[in-house]
Amino acid sequence: MQRVFSGIQPSGVPTLGNYLGAIRNWVPMQDEHECLFCVVDMHAITVFQEPQQLLAQTREMAATLLACGLDLAKCTLFVQSHVPAHAELAWIFNCVARLGWLNRMTQFKDKAGKDREAASSGLYVYPNLMAADILVYKATSVPVGDDQKQHLELANDIAQKFNHDYGVEFFPRIEPHILGVAARVMSLRDGSKKMSKSDPSDQSRINLNDDSDAIRNKIKRAKTDPEPLPDNVLGFEGRPEVRNLVGILAAVTGTTPDAVLREHGGKGFGAFKDILADALIAHLGPIRSEMLRYLSDLPSLDAELRKGAEKAEAIARPIVTEAKRIVGFLPRA
Ligand code: TYM
Repeated sequence: MQRVFSGIQPSGVPTLGNYLGAIRNWVPMQDEHECLFCVVDMHAITVFQEPQQLLAQTREMAATLLACGLDLAKCTLFVQSHVPAHAELAWIFNCVARLGWLNRMTQFKDKAGKDREAASSGLYVYPNLMAADILVYKATSVPVGDDQKQHLELANDIAQKFNHDYGVEFFPRIEPHILGVAARVMSLRDGSKKMSKSDPSDQSRINLNDDSDAIRNKIKRAKTDPEPLPDNVLGFEGRPEVRNLVGILAAVTGTTPDAVLREHGGKGFGAFKDILADALIAHLGPIRSEMLRYLSDLPSLDAELRKGAEKAEAIARPIVTEAKRIVGFLPRA
């Protein structure tokens, strides 16, 4: 049985991109593997978060994950800052990872934008903390969307360098698990940008707590072009927004873009957007009401997160203690 780890930032309400690219793929893994899922609040503050909002969003994220089908009887769900072993191992990894490696990270370049000097140093070493998240459990399988691939390659480089420098076979190799037709869901306003919970435009994304009207409106206003839908996927060339909407319908109806185009090719976007909005509303409606139910009882939610942190801590503590011993830190007597 593999140990699985994945994380999600509480930097906003989770989007359809998070759901199709990651969360939805986590659910079946609970039946086959030992799974740890983490709301990564320490990653979120690499970009300033308003404190009250971060706190609310952390609970909202946990409630959403439960509403999407994570089952506390089968997996461990917890908040990153509740398990200090992540930060302890991350410091060691800050001293293992090379600046040259971090300089190649495209997500840093994207997130830091033009004024790189003004980015937080946390944003720069973000991938080291991410490597620690995974390796502090010696997890080997990491289900993520396509955008996280580079970070996982870096995590493997860190693990190998640690093993090599200290002459041990301590950290295992990580396998990225990139799944699904919609491994990258794009913005509804710009088909060249990924759909993101931190995009300033709410119209660019479907949030998992959007009600039916909001979903229908956003799909209606999604960017397209005046041509009808193509007959096959070759017709996506130069039409990233069209590819994206077709990909989303394929993902929520459990089929492929090819099959969607066999059925709807030649239709105009007015009709297609109605079909897409109906499918999304049918799929996301039950998730939204479950999420609201979990959020109506915060003491129970917090108690579950506490139990999750205790379970996670029990796995992480001996591993980080051993890593510290390997590095040569004097054990506390
Ligand atoms: P985050 O919070 O940006 O996203 C959580 C998960 O959702 C996926 N995702 C998408 N998939 C498809 N289309 C999109 N538009 C889209 N947007 C997001 C992401 O690939 C991710 O799987 N660094 C991570 C969080 C993290 C982590 C980890 C993940 C921290 N530590 C350790 C795995 C293992 C992040 O920012 O995810």
